[in-house]
Amino acid sequence: MYWTNKLKMLWAGLLLVGSIQAQQVCVSTPGTSLVLSAPEGGELKYVYYGPKLAPADLEQLPAVEKALSAYPAYGLYPAQEAALAVEHGDGNLTLDLAVQRVSTQQEEKALLTVVELKDKVYPFYVNICYRAWQDADVIETWTEISHAEKKPVVLTRFDSGCLPIRRGEVWLSHLNGSWANESRLVEEPLLPGMKVIKNKDGTRNSHTSHAEVMLSLDGQPRENQGRVIGVALCYGGNYELRIDTQDDDYHRLFAGINPDNSYYKLAKGERFLTPALALTYSREGLSGSSRNFHRWARLHKLAHGTTPRKILLNSWEGVYFDINQEGMDQMMGDIASMGGELFVMDDGWFGDKYPRKTDNSSLGDWVVDKNKLPEGIEGLLADARKHGIKFGIWIEPEMANTTSELYEKHPEWVVKAPGRDLVLGRGGTQVVLDLSNPKVQDFVFKVVDDLMTAYPEIDYIKWDANMPIQNHGSNYLTMDKQSHLYIDYHKGFEAVCQRIRQKYPDLTIQACASGGGRANYGILPYFDEFWVSDNTDALQRIYMQWGTSYFFPAIAMASHISAAPNHQTFRVIPLKYRIDVAMSGRLGMEIQPKNMTEEEKALCKKAIEEYKMIRPVVQLGDIYRLVSPYDKLGVASLMYVSEAKEKAVFYWWKTEHFVNQHLPRVTMAGLQPDKSYRIRELNRIDNEPLAFEGKVFTGAYLMEQGLEIPYNHRVDYHKQNDYSSRVLYLEEVK
Ligand code: GLA
Repeated sequence: MYWTNKLKMLWAGLLLVGSIQAQQVCVSTPGTSLVLSAPEGGELKYVYYGPKLAPADLEQLPAVEKALSAYPAYGLYPAQEAALAVEHGDGNLTLDLAVQRVSTQQEEKALLTVVELKDKVYPFYVNICYRAWQDADVIETWTEISHAEKKPVVLTRFDSGCLPIRRGEVWLSHLNGSWANESRLVEEPLLPGMKVIKNKDGTRNSHTSHAEVMLSLDGQPRENQGRVIGVALCYGGNYELRIDTQDDDYHRLFAGINPDNSYYKLAKGERFLTPALALTYSREGLSGSSRNFHRWARLHKLAHGTTPRKILLNSWEGVYFDINQEGMDQMMGDIASMGGELFVMDDGWFGDKYPRKTDNSSLGDWVVDKNKLPEGIEGLLADARKHGIKFGIWIEPEMANTTSELYEKHPEWVVKAPGRDLVLGRGGTQVVLDLSNPKVQDFVFKVVDDLMTAYPEIDYIKWDANMPIQNHGSNYLTMDKQSHLYIDYHKGFEAVCQRIRQKYPDLTIQACASGGGRANYGILPYFDEFWVSDNTDALQRIYMQWGTSYFFPAIAMASHISAAPNHQTFRVIPLKYRIDVAMSGRLGMEIQPKNMTEEEKALCKKAIEEYKMIRPVVQLGDIYRLVSPYDKLGVASLMYVSEAKEKAVFYWWKTEHFVNQHLPRVTMAGLQPDKSYRIRELNRIDNEPLAFEGKVFTGAYLMEQGLEIPYNHRVDYHKQNDYSSRVLYLEEVK
């Protein structure tokens, strides 16, 4: 299963490291500890997860803490929920796993601990791995399953990990939504019974529920107070998170690949590697857990996670499929004149025999439509060079349309149950290519490789995926392994991504999947960012980006200024507000600049200039969410603070508009109390500066008192409207 070369080397290294006969294993990051009991010949037990333990406390744990199964396997206690269930070659359904040895391996920035388990009767092995990062408060856990039984063993459940959580007043925060309404925050107390969060899309997995959750241990979740455990399953395919609350003092969280219709026949000697389950813990509320995830993401989980992103214009909402050379040149010229750094040509540029005019043809035929672009990509690159910006391009390489030369040549490459008719997707003709097939993997790699070999100047790829797996079946997998499709698809996808990254390490790649379908830590190591949603409405984006920020840093959240009326909600939102929302993520534009007034262009130019100044704070800083839009107080507010706490950016967006409404005064967070900060408003449209413009306040004042922000903009009568927003830049004064 998901063996990377690095892991293979690591494993070889581990075998050389001497084993330790540990009874108690303590896995620690700078601020957290996970304690296990691992007696040789006995069961691996979970003892503790929380703030880093002092040695004296650690010593006391065996006597005072309950030890609970760390990775419950099905069989001897069938009434308990299991993390692992199998059918052995001889039909036996039970497992009884005992600790064989524990080993540790120092990695560059992490400590890897492996607990080796073996069934007491069968040659069946499970290694439970824990990677404790030494520069981020995240512990990743996953398992590696193998056996030496004569016949294949059928894996029917294969979670990445299990975490017991002490009952009390535990609340769950998770993200739920749908296309164009992704990442809505849901908060609920954990009650007896089973809470299941799952995905079965096949190709994408975050339009509806997310595979990341937070658990607040001190009652109703708060942003900046309380103990919070954060959990993220790092997987791009079907997943299942279960929180079981039965009859004892613990909730038990299980997370892993969704086993539904995915039972896996594991051959002798084959290894099945489950995806990592990442855990974090903070005493600083939900925002604290988010900061831990963001830091870990930037340092270890995201392609180029510490390199600030370019400001771009994407052509989609500006021209849709109406691509042509002059139009692209005009858009490039416009974004360059506003200070942008990159232009991305979206869908509609390809197809020879079947030119892509709308969404019902040509996927798979990744050759330029010469009628639209007579000078080809070379001509577009020359235009980009002329305007002094970079060029990026849209592809959807995992897919085809039945109206395509690719499908005519390789009908056997598409996902479909043998003997059944195709179930078609977008445009009535879309199909998914079968990435379990190595030939299809080669093809998908070649789509990128051909483009990059011919045009090495391409700086950015928007990689889309607009269809779920339908009509479950593979022409490549044998009939007894049809249930491997969902898993092998993602194994194939990851293999392709690895090849691309090996050959093109500097390329920027966006993960798009009908908007926010691929916001997950399984794919992010290969991608620089994701498209948060196909919905670019600034008001709705506040809610979606708020939820997304629980787990993903601003540097990964593509957030674009689009037209009014908005193309999804038809809401008319003033440009100032659209800018102020887009500037809280990875700023870009998705609009036809030709249709903008000179005044609007000037406002965007100013915003881009100011964003360049705050970009390192937004993209690399720490998030402090202040007032949640979900609390319905009429305002939403958050801020980013630089690591040294000498710079900060504060966002304030009014979410409702009523006369004589009373909005809360927002207190800031994350500043240093004894530092002094000068306040400057960005993107100002008011005739008069704010009362506190240019004034200096201590961090203590800003965090205890906050600033009095006027509810409306002071602009000429004919410019007044029902939206109001502020972006404040704070800079330390020494
Ligand atoms: C998907 C993406 C959009 C756009 C279109 C192009 O819907 O989410 O951003 O690229 O495809 O067809």
